[in-house]
Amino acid sequence: MANGIFITGTDTEVGKTFIAGGLARMWLKMGKRAGVMKPIESGCVRSDGVLQPRDALFLKEMSASIDDLDLIVPYRLEHPLAPSIAAELEGVEIDLENVKSIYQQLELKYDVVLVEGAGGLLSPLYKTFTNVDLIKLLGIPVIVVARNALGTINHTLLTVGCARSSGLTVLGIIINNLSPNDDLSTNDNPRVIKELSGLPLLGVIPFLPVPHCENMELIADLLDEHVDADLLREM
Ligand SMILES: Nc1ncnc2c1ncn2[C@@H]1O[C@H](COP(=O)(O)OP(=O)(O)OP(=O)(O)O)[C@@H](O)[C@H]1O
Ligand SMILES: [Mg+2]
Repeated sequence: MANGIFITGTDTEVGKTFIAGGLARMWLKMGKRAGVMKPIESGCVRSDGVLQPRDALFLKEMSASIDDLDLIVPYRLEHPLAPSIAAELEGVEIDLENVKSIYQQLELKYDVVLVEGAGGLLSPLYKTFTNVDLIKLLGIPVIVVARNALGTINHTLLTVGCARSSGLTVLGIIINNLSPNDDLSTNDNPRVIKELSGLPLLGVIPFLPVPHCENMELIADLLDEHVDADLLREM
């Protein structure tokens, strides 16, 4: 049976999709089959009447998944808001048990299934149900993606503290450089976060200075080079 990993972040736009896609591709190249899921995607752009789920499409492409897009992303929402708010505005009902049963189908088919959350741990997915509740429902551990910039120590430790107090298992932290320009904090963030969290630092990912849509292999190579493969292999 597959190992599921939930990819969460300290915030929205920290690189969860970039890293989940890169990991899936990296594993594919190593001969390990990775399934992917973005259970609820908000901010989908409507094109020809169809909501286009950018994250799920990227994950599907990077993992070379042949799964139906509706399994990868069972719920698509248009408003670029927390899913619970978008769902309310759009009158969409989200059945979390359905998400779990789709996850379980994928789990049977793959060596590992990467599930990307929406926003951060406490972002609401549906009514009062948050990413934390979804992770508990799926019963899988978490990797935290954090941006490498001033403020990240606080955001990362808050995320780790929330995960721990909710009883989640955190496998480790990946620190992601979202900009080519370092700030004064960039060099020390990884060391300080590792020390203060007491968690494995799975990698520090450099900024990739090229458009990525056509560069799936470059992203996989970047992850391969900068993620601690031994630590990931143990998972
Ligand atoms: N290491 C990197 N180098 C260059 N660009 C990056 C890197 N990591 C992420 N990006 C870019 O930063 C933007 C945000 O990343 P991404 O979409 O993966 O964030 P996210 O956490 O998944 O956001 P969301 O909360 O919307 O799902 C994207 O345009 C992505 O391609
Ligand atoms: Mg994303």
